[in-house]
Amino acid sequence: MAGASEPIRTITPGADDAPRDIAVDADSNPPGGGGSQDMPLKKLAHIHPRGAGAPGELDQIPVFRPSITQEEIDAVTEVMRSGWLGLGPVTEKFENELAEFLGVDHVIALNSGTAALHLAIRLLDLNPGDEVIVPSITFISTAHAVEYCGARAVFADVCEDTLCISPDDVRRKITKKTRAILPVHYGGHPADLDALRAAIADRPITLVEDAAHACGAYYKGKRVGGLSPMTCFSFHAVKNLTCGEGGAISTHNAAWAKKLRELRWMGISKDTYERTAKESVYAWQYWVHDLGFKYHMHDLAAAMGRVQLRRLDENNAKRRRIAERYNDAFSGAAWIETPPEHDDVFSSWHIYPIKTLERDRLIAHLKANGIAPGVHYYPLHMHPYYADRGAKCPIAEELWKRMISLPMFPDMSDAQVDRVIQTVLAFDAAGS
Ligand SMILES: Cc1ncc(COP(=O)(O)O)c(C=O)c1O
Repeated sequence: MAGASEPIRTITPGADDAPRDIAVDADSNPPGGGGSQDMPLKKLAHIHPRGAGAPGELDQIPVFRPSITQEEIDAVTEVMRSGWLGLGPVTEKFENELAEFLGVDHVIALNSGTAALHLAIRLLDLNPGDEVIVPSITFISTAHAVEYCGARAVFADVCEDTLCISPDDVRRKITKKTRAILPVHYGGHPADLDALRAAIADRPITLVEDAAHACGAYYKGKRVGGLSPMTCFSFHAVKNLTCGEGGAISTHNAAWAKKLRELRWMGISKDTYERTAKESVYAWQYWVHDLGFKYHMHDLAAAMGRVQLRRLDENNAKRRRIAERYNDAFSGAAWIETPPEHDDVFSSWHIYPIKTLERDRLIAHLKANGIAPGVHYYPLHMHPYYADRGAKCPIAEELWKRMISLPMFPDMSDAQVDRVIQTVLAFDAAGS
């Protein structure tokens, strides 16, 4: 078994940076692209990704790749010509449109998902020794954000099927010091929020969602984003909605939203745009209320984000179609476990994770055939920084050795999906 002492090679796959992989590797449109609050039908067989041989098709198939059109390029260019590049009117529009899309009162746009997690936990005013329960299978930001605030990340095991945080293990790991639970919607599949709420019961514990993978996902018919006191999003380069880099916190709480806006801008009471656009005489005056951070989004990123938001449901539908094709193709291969989607959720299919006992041999086979898979993720409690805490997450420790993320991005052509399927099925799982 590969333990914490064995370094894992991190190789950037294909067309875009994906540092979090352990990879062998227009105003006229309605806000949110008419993104309805109603959960769509799951079967979307009528939506097809681009046809075979389309321009830009890659010989090397990366695990992820952003979907950027002329619309994003034009929107960013318009901001570049406007004379206002920083936090400004376009960021405000993006925040309002995203809030409407998510069905939430406030969105605070930031420069990363990590910043979102940090500020959300910072808002809770934790004391040294306070604990926040996080899943072991996630990107490192989920745990580090807790530790930035002087509190302690406590690792919970994951559910064997979805790889989301296990409510049973959360129940076991709640102590008098637990102040928050930070579930991750792994791969876009929402965690069991009702079971987590039941585990918290009437204790003073806040549920903060890490929805870095779950932009556009639904839980029990409602969009992820308005279901908990705070939800954190990432708009990193290869996320379902990308701003190049970016993030956001959604909340219904107006006082929290005001505080978060202050914290994202160095603790200053009014940002530069607000003062310049809305004050006449005292535009130069501001007050510093807190030890804030330089975490705000800027208008270039927001311009890209607005277009991506309009395209989000369509892009997620393309991801769903690819997942359906993979599921169908692998249904007869007993050596592959395909990812589930529970009846009460609607995944955003950020990742397509399969499990197989032949993980390393299959990765080598895919790499040899020009396909760059990923592994998401090496359990956090086994990383050197956290390993000496003795956290026990036996399911994560066992499952990560079987996990492979297959290529999943909206612009994957039919031919590319076929090639991944054929290459996987051509693998000799018996090893003969
Ligand atoms: C589950 C999870 N949480 C948090 C983050 C951090 O987001 P960002 O890269 O925007 O800081 C990521 C990014 O990969 C993630 O996958």
